[in-house]
Amino acid sequence: MTTPPTRRTFLGAALAGASLPAVHTQEPRTAAKGRPTMVGSANALPGMLEQWERFSGGGDPLDHAIEVVKFQERNEKDSSVGLGGLPGENGIVTLDAAVMHGPTHNSGAVAAIENILHPSEVARLVMERTDHCLIVGRGAYEFARMHGHDHVELLTEKARKAWVAWRERMSTDDDRLPARKKKKDERGGLIYEVDGEKLALEELFGPKRPTGTIHCSALGANGHVACTTTTSGLSWKIPGRVGDSPIIGAGLYCDQEAGSAGATGRGESAILSNGSFAIVELLRKGASPLDAGMEVLGRIARQARRGAKWQPALVDDDGRPAFGVKFYILGLDGQTAGVTLKGKGNYSVATPENGPERKPLTALFPK
Ligand code: GLY
Repeated sequence: MTTPPTRRTFLGAALAGASLPAVHTQEPRTAAKGRPTMVGSANALPGMLEQWERFSGGGDPLDHAIEVVKFQERNEKDSSVGLGGLPGENGIVTLDAAVMHGPTHNSGAVAAIENILHPSEVARLVMERTDHCLIVGRGAYEFARMHGHDHVELLTEKARKAWVAWRERMSTDDDRLPARKKKKDERGGLIYEVDGEKLALEELFGPKRPTGTIHCSALGANGHVACTTTTSGLSWKIPGRVGDSPIIGAGLYCDQEAGSAGATGRGESAILSNGSFAIVELLRKGASPLDAGMEVLGRIARQARRGAKWQPALVDDDGRPAFGVKFYILGLDGQTAGVTLKGKGNYSVATPENGPERKPLTALFPK
């Protein structure tokens, strides 16, 4: 019996020796060599500090971008990524992660994976050890276990107590009674005490509902680009909800002929704008990282206004987005930008001149 060809072997055979028609409309651009650079979310700085020496000495951009985000995947104090991440509405922590590799234009991702500490590494395994781009849920867990990843309880005591506080206060129409202890902190914010854990109420229930995530894009000294994004997703999410982080084009995208970008914040907006892909396409056409980021944020603001016709909470009283989205952008020449829809904040960048540092984000709506 002959083995049927896989998509990979079929395409390989079809392309072998074939001359491709010249259909491109512009000359492909190439990345700068000898200018190692990283860009990412503010919480990428500790990982960049840890990785910079080896990366800037000629390390592979995908290897080191993954090591950067693994720092927060294992850090239980970061409640938006990996261990210590806030769970969904059922109290179960599920993670989303993806990687993308410029030189081979390939990607891998996992979504809604449970009990695995390093989903970014599993995303890389999907890219390198399967012919797929995305594996989800139980299948992703079993795939990770098959490749030797341990089963880990990701719900820390602090995250469990935060979830209990949220769950008990969610409705006055059910039978759960919230713990009673409440007092004010030094700034006048309400502190809620659950089983001895002091939790800031606004963080759990306020307008700043936790949506962290970590992204890192990297340009290697060899001129290769790569990126990764990993998250525990929106806190208290509906079980099975998947955000932008494992969606290629939304939570991350890179192209060896254009650059790299990634997102944190409200995943639905990064998906609906195809934000990271849109930014990389603007880079391809010659836009600077800052201009590309601001253009896509402007689109997201307009899209939110249209979306508010059926979901009014998407915009505030002034018609501005009522949520946050940030992009981290890397051009082929090593130029970087960090942009945010509104307010203040920082992003992380590492360059040969200054090493790893935090820089202020540029806001579409500064106030
Ligand atoms: N950006 C992360 C999420 O929305 O899940």
